[in-house]
Amino acid sequence: MQGVTVVDHPLVQHKLTIMRDKDTSTASFRRLLREISLLLCYEVTRDLELTTRTIETPMVTMEAPTLEGKKLVFASVLRAGNGLLDGMLDLVPAARVAHIGLYRDQDTLEAVEYFFKAPSNLEDRLIIVVDPMLATANSAVAAVDKLKERGATNIRFLCLLAAPEGIERFTTAHPDVPVFTASVDEKLNEKGYILPGLGDAGDRMYGTK
Ligand code: PRP
Ligand code: URA
Repeated sequence: MQGVTVVDHPLVQHKLTIMRDKDTSTASFRRLLREISLLLCYEVTRDLELTTRTIETPMVTMEAPTLEGKKLVFASVLRAGNGLLDGMLDLVPAARVAHIGLYRDQDTLEAVEYFFKAPSNLEDRLIIVVDPMLATANSAVAAVDKLKERGATNIRFLCLLAAPEGIERFTTAHPDVPVFTASVDEKLNEKGYILPGLGDAGDRMYGTK
């Protein structure tokens, strides 16, 4: 699949299996999502541009590698995106954060926006949109539409699980936005849930229903 990277690292796959298990507790689910986010962050940032700066080690002067360009933006699609965001910020503490509040209307499955707050100068920055689930892709498409309206041009989308239907819709709507996921599952059910999936990511993270 063009533009789609499946992060099939054994640690990611092992942790994902525990997350899918319906008997996994809320506390474990949250911890595992944070742990997986570190590994996914590593993949989604692996080609970031480097420059060098002069530093003094205790031994000598050297030209040492350092990240180039403006600070990254992590754009979390609320609520469940925050489960990926925390670990990503552990790895890239200087990143800026955008919050995009969206929920799926249960009947239409359309994304309904209730909040948007993003740093300025989106046009100069790499933006990594994070949301564990890409199901119909209505939420992901709406999140990226909104960021593009605000000037963003360099965007990546990072999730934990994707449905083939969601990937098709997302890559058609935003062919310029690469997708990173830990798994492409089988299909959506008639209610727009991913199969085999892991259920409702937000509810499992926060113990709601
Ligand atoms: C979930 C998930 C995505 C969306 C995916 O959020 O976190 O944002 O569904 O589904 P889609 O691809 O069909 O749009 P939800 O709307 O349940 O909100 P929540 O994170 O607040 O629970
Ligand atoms: N949102 C979820 O949290 N889970 C799904 O399976 C689909 C959408």
